[in-house]
Amino acid sequence: MEEEFVANQERLKPQEDKTEEDRSKSVGPEYYVGILSFVDKDQLEPGCAILMHNKVLSVVGLLQDDVDPMVSVVKVEKAPLESYADIGGLDAQIQENKEAVELPLTHPELYEDIGIKPPKGVILYGEPGTGKTFLAKAVANSTSATFLRVVGSELIQKYLGDGPKLVRELFRVADDLSPSIVFIDEIDAVGMKRYDAHSGGEREIQRTMLELLNQLDGFDSRGDVKVILATNKIESLDPALLRPGRIDRKIEFPLPDIKTRRRIFPIHT
Ligand SMILES: Nc1ncnc2c1ncn2[C@@H]1O[C@H](COP(=O)(O)OP(=O)(O)O)[C@@H](O)[C@H]1O
Ligand SMILES: [Mg+2]
Repeated sequence: MEEEFVANQERLKPQEDKTEEDRSKSVGPEYYVGILSFVDKDQLEPGCAILMHNKVLSVVGLLQDDVDPMVSVVKVEKAPLESYADIGGLDAQIQENKEAVELPLTHPELYEDIGIKPPKGVILYGEPGTGKTFLAKAVANSTSATFLRVVGSELIQKYLGDGPKLVRELFRVADDLSPSIVFIDEIDAVGMKRYDAHSGGEREIQRTMLELLNQLDGFDSRGDVKVILATNKIESLDPALLRPGRIDRKIEFPLPDIKTRRRIFPIHT
């Protein structure tokens, strides 16, 4: 139903609205260029990378299978220093994270044996400073899986205009380098409830979000890509993101109680 709704929204959007959007989106000069006959036009699609002749500006080829340089930035090559041992309290959260994210990657047979489907991923939520990013770093430190990390707000600010593409690339690289964990921190920057978007920028954020939903639907939870999302504002997230079959495992990070504070304190002093 949701897909149909989104499709209809796209279709029924007033046409002049669309052209206005396209016009406001393009920055810099516009060129009308030819495509040489030997270029496979079927493969030309919005957002693909092309080769152009430097003088006549005709399309002479298509670049395929290029891993976007943006994505190499998000691969965490060096394990972060934070480890599970540096976390005070949060035992239940660590345990749940291990069961939902790490264990299905390292021991998928355990889930098959008892006949349950592991979740595709988890969302860590709670007040700022409660250790969500910290825990994700500890996961990166402990896992042998490829760890890819992006921050939602960066996705929007740095790659404006390319958000959906980056999301696509991100999951493609995750698949190529699997087993892997995709960590998207501060997801609220992308995953806000869908509202009437007026500016090109807001639409861009929505398109990024839709691509994320698309990617989440596109992979199997039995596969070896897992997703960790983190947010301070779970209530402002698009509920579509948290629907069963997507990120349906929620892990709350409460403010530490006295006992936990006692355990955090010595770690930092
Ligand atoms: N349970 C904890 N044990 C030890 N340090 C913690 C804990 N929770 C938070 N911290 C400290 O607080 C800092 C901020 O936490 P962070 O994970 O960035 O919060 P957020 O939940 O907003 O992502 C961490 O870098 C860490 O030093
Ligand atoms: Mg954080």
